[in-house]
Amino acid sequence: MFRWMGHINQSTIATSFTLHIELHIERRAPALLFFLFCLPVWAVTFESDVAPILEQHCQRCHRAGEIAPMSFETYAQTRPWAAAIREQVTLRRMPPWFAVSGDFENNPSLTQKQISTLREWADTGAVEGPAQSLATPAWPSGWNLKRTDASFEMAESFAIPASGAVDYQYFVISTKFTQDRWVQGAEIRPGARANVHHVVVYVREKNSPWLRDGHMAIPPKSDILLIYTPGSDARMLPAGMAKKVDAGSDLVFQIHYTTNGKAALDRTKIGLQFAPSVPLKRVLTLQMGNSAFHIPPGNANFPVLVRGTLPNDAELLSFFPHMHLRGKAFEYRMIPPRGPAQVLLRVEPYDFYWQLDYVLRQALKLAAGTKFEWEAWFDNSANNPRNPDAKATVTYGEQSWEEMMIGFFDVAVPAGVTKEKFFERAGRQENSLPR
Ligand code: HEC
Repeated sequence: MFRWMGHINQSTIATSFTLHIELHIERRAPALLFFLFCLPVWAVTFESDVAPILEQHCQRCHRAGEIAPMSFETYAQTRPWAAAIREQVTLRRMPPWFAVSGDFENNPSLTQKQISTLREWADTGAVEGPAQSLATPAWPSGWNLKRTDASFEMAESFAIPASGAVDYQYFVISTKFTQDRWVQGAEIRPGARANVHHVVVYVREKNSPWLRDGHMAIPPKSDILLIYTPGSDARMLPAGMAKKVDAGSDLVFQIHYTTNGKAALDRTKIGLQFAPSVPLKRVLTLQMGNSAFHIPPGNANFPVLVRGTLPNDAELLSFFPHMHLRGKAFEYRMIPPRGPAQVLLRVEPYDFYWQLDYVLRQALKLAAGTKFEWEAWFDNSANNPRNPDAKATVTYGEQSWEEMMIGFFDVAVPAGVTKEKFFERAGRQENSLPR
């Protein structure tokens, strides 16, 4: 019954959407024709109207060496995709973005006017137009960081098999840093893009036992330097903020490889841009998650909640929600010391293949004691086309057919505060924010 209703709803939405578009065109057609007859020079062209939009919103991914399989840098490359572009932007599938509200500085979404321009271009023959004298951007090849002061690569390639599950792999790389380093920008570039499902780069302190003598568990005090998932960009922190890598630290790459029928070799690397001086604020990546859930078979909307309290004052900078194939929506809420609960980010639909960072345009200053509440919803019904097994009771696990519920978030704290110190609370010991 539920499944059926879901289907009806979807097609109703689709139909009314199409209707809306058609009406829109019909109303505009006479005006458009008028313009075409009288003032042909006003036609939307690739060179003057489309290229600037592509540069600003699409070429980050749609260019050689980046994630998208087709480039949109020249007219010749883009022309065959005009109809597909029209469709993707009309349905707001491209550029990928899933926050339903909030003000995020990395929101690449198009304005309604830009969407209309791309549609009109496709509808009027996708013409090239006279070349513009405007300089086209010189995209970097390789690193997207302005400057790469240091880079670290896996010592040798990892052989990804053609099929089967691959356990998380850990690669330890010595930084050989003889002095503490403040990292303002970082970028992870996977070798085998089609197989690298995620990379988490941790900073392992000098005397940490992790990955030595059989110590496997990730120590809670090891900070995360950067996370990569498909769609990730290089990350630049604002002026005056940086991540710290102490002298003598190692980097640990935790990589999840997925198989796709073809064997491949991967050699992932990370590039770092150092801060010009010791910053005022240190950025820490924290996480709060729930791993004690049982998602019943067939349930189409199973909620999982986790709560915690901020142990010390901090500025909230960004979010990164993480679930697997049954993930449906994810919400970050805070309950300030005074005042009602506030939604910080709602991601819907959650898309396993587009796990994005959501960077607040305005950092949020929060007081110790602020209560957080993250909630995630899972679709374990047969109606979810990505569901690996709708008959399974699903619990926490690393592989994609198992589930996870983790809300990562970045905070800025005074430069002298370590991750360990941040979790020390003044006075009474409360429930600790899970790390
Ligand atoms: C974050 C990276 C990213 C950005 C930004 C992005 N794309 Fe894409 N795009 C992709 C990837 C990856 C694919 C191929 C996989 C897919 O279809 O999801 C794709 C596929 C497409 C396709 C082909 C869909 C099909 O029919 O197969 C079109 C058309 C497209 N993008 C248009 C755009 C336009 C137009 C923009 C900018 C307004 C844009 N994209 C921005 C990553 C991106």
